[in-house]
Amino acid sequence: MEHPNPPVKLNFGDIFGRLAPIHIEIGSGKGTFLVNQARCQPNADFIGIEWAGKFYRFAVDRIGRWNLTNVRIIRTDAVRYIAECVPDSSVDCFHFYFPDPWPKKRHKKRRFINDANTDQLIRALKPAGTIRVATDFAEYFEQIKSVFASKADCLEQIDFLPNAGAQIGEWVGSNFERKYLMENRPIYTIAVRKK
Ligand SMILES: C[S@@+](CC[C@H](N)C(=O)[O-])C[C@H]1O[C@@H](n2cnc3c(N)ncnc32)[C@H](O)[C@@H]1O
Repeated sequence: MEHPNPPVKLNFGDIFGRLAPIHIEIGSGKGTFLVNQARCQPNADFIGIEWAGKFYRFAVDRIGRWNLTNVRIIRTDAVRYIAECVPDSSVDCFHFYFPDPWPKKRHKKRRFINDANTDQLIRALKPAGTIRVATDFAEYFEQIKSVFASKADCLEQIDFLPNAGAQIGEWVGSNFERKYLMENRPIYTIAVRKK
C-alpha cells in the first residue's frame, strides 16, 4: 500500500473487500507477528506500518509467500499515517511490539508513545478498542504507563493476554521478542482499552 498524497482517510472495506475487525501494527519489522497472527485470525484484517525499506521488503515477501489476503503493509512514518489516514473510531487494536526505545536523553522526544500520538490512537480506536504494547526497555515502559495513566478518562488497563500467533512462553510472537527471550531479557507488557 502507499501513503496517499494528498492524504485521505482510509476505507478499510475497500482495501480488504469486506468489513472485519481491523488491527494495526506500528513498526512491523520483518512481519513475524503480522504473518503469524493473520494466519491464526483469518476473520480479522491486519495493516503493518514500517518505515525501514529493508524490513518492509522482507515483510512483503513473507506475506506473499503465505498468500495472505487479510494483511497489508505500508512503508511510511506511522505518526503521519495514523494522523492523516486512519479514520476516527475505525480500529479494533493497535499493536506496538518492541518500539525503538531511543535511550539517549536528547533522542527521547522521538519515542512514539507520547501524549500527542496517544491522543491520535484514542481518536482512531473504536469504543472498547485496545492498545497492546511490549518492550524490554524498563524506562520507556514507565513512560508508556504514565502516558496511558494520564488518559484515564479515555483508557482503562486490562490484562495482557498472549497473542494467538505467539508460541508457548511468548507474549506476542514477534522477531524481537524471540531474540530477547533467548537473551533472557525482561519483557514488560501493558494493554489498555478505550472506554
Ligand atoms: C525494534 S524494531 C521491532 C520490530 C518488531 N515489532 C518486532 O518486535 O520484531 C522497531 C521497528 O519499528 C520501526 N519504526 C520505528 N518508528 C517508526 C515509525 N514512526 N513508523 C514506522 N515504523 C517505525 C523501525 O524501523 C523498526 O523496524
